[in-house]
Amino acid sequence: MLNDPFYLGNLKVPNGVLLAPLAGVSDVPFRRVCQELGAGLTYIEMLSAAGMPHQNRKAGELIARDVAEPILGAQMTGATPEIMALGAKILMEKDLVVDTLDINMGCPVKKIVGRGCGSAIVKDPKRAGDILRATIEAVDVPVSTKIRLGFTKSEQTVEAVCDELARVGTEMLVIHGRTRDCGYSDPIQYDRIKDGFAAARSAAGDRKIQMVGNGNIFDLKTAKEMVDKTGCDGIMVSRGCLGNPWIFDQILGDHDRQPTVSEWLDVVLRHVDYHREFYTEGHYAAIRFRKHLLWYVSGFPGSRALRNEISQVNTMADVRERLLRYAESLPDELPRYGDHHEFARTEDYDPKGEMDRDHDRGVEHYEDA
Ligand SMILES: Cc1cc2nc3c(=O)[nH]c(=O)nc-3n(C[C@H](O)[C@H](O)[C@H](O)COP(=O)(O)O)c2cc1C
Repeated sequence: MLNDPFYLGNLKVPNGVLLAPLAGVSDVPFRRVCQELGAGLTYIEMLSAAGMPHQNRKAGELIARDVAEPILGAQMTGATPEIMALGAKILMEKDLVVDTLDINMGCPVKKIVGRGCGSAIVKDPKRAGDILRATIEAVDVPVSTKIRLGFTKSEQTVEAVCDELARVGTEMLVIHGRTRDCGYSDPIQYDRIKDGFAAARSAAGDRKIQMVGNGNIFDLKTAKEMVDKTGCDGIMVSRGCLGNPWIFDQILGDHDRQPTVSEWLDVVLRHVDYHREFYTEGHYAAIRFRKHLLWYVSGFPGSRALRNEISQVNTMADVRERLLRYAESLPDELPRYGDHHEFARTEDYDPKGEMDRDHDRGVEHYEDA
């Protein structure tokens, strides 16, 4: 089912396994790697609608598409219908052509929520609907929405929000099965995601809305769990792809085989090349790659030493050299995450701890908004 073409209005997406917009992560180089390993649809990092009229260099870097990218979505958040409509219009006038636009109604970051954006929107179903309506009117591409179950555990608005968004005309409803006050260690509430989908289906009548489940998808097993427990049409992968773009191939190929050292090296070096091409050689590029390096080296023996040296990695040539040296110390056919692994992704893993604070644009670029 996840392998089948997935339609957002008239837009044909090759399959229903999506890469989430990931602030500080889903840039051109990483998206290209995920696309090559099967991701049906990928997104640029979340944009602030209020920041669109006065963008800085970093925002310009965010709004980019490589000619090799077959299909691409953008994501934006905004506090009011007017701000969102203006931001969406400005985005569509850029050289970048996106095929679809998602509205973020789930971001928990204080600075975003304090401005009435992100997950603050799900407090008020009517405002959520008004923002969606104005966005649909402003652009010619299919518009979707990504929400949380509610703002707090005791204030779950998921049914009312889904009902409203379905009536107004969202083409896709992505539900992250947590509320804003949940941490990553809080379990995914599959039954509540299902309740949201049911409310949207009943409000939509004959109109098809793509229902997408999000949260704790780390491998084939957890992907299947999301499908079985929520009845979703598609899934959106987030932390599960960090250092692990193979997750798309595993889910779509219905297998749980891990890459061997040589397969791993092949993909990681390709990511290094795309990253160099996009950011060019230099300190900034290397710093941006450090977190990927940390994530990539997990799952093989002896990675701790390399992880401890990450702060000394200052050029992309250095990244490449350290990767080659590390791979040479391992048998080519050794599978990742065998009996030997030192570190595995778990439900309570918070990647932000491993992101370089100075260059974590996921938060930094909203200063401009
Ligand atoms: C580093 C990072 C950046 C994120 N950036 C975004 C973003 O820009 N837009 C968005 O909708 N969600 C963003 N999220 C939230 C994820 O898309 C997802 O909803 C959340 O991590 C739950 O899924 P998971 O448990 O599979 O990670 C981000 C999450 C992480 C870890």
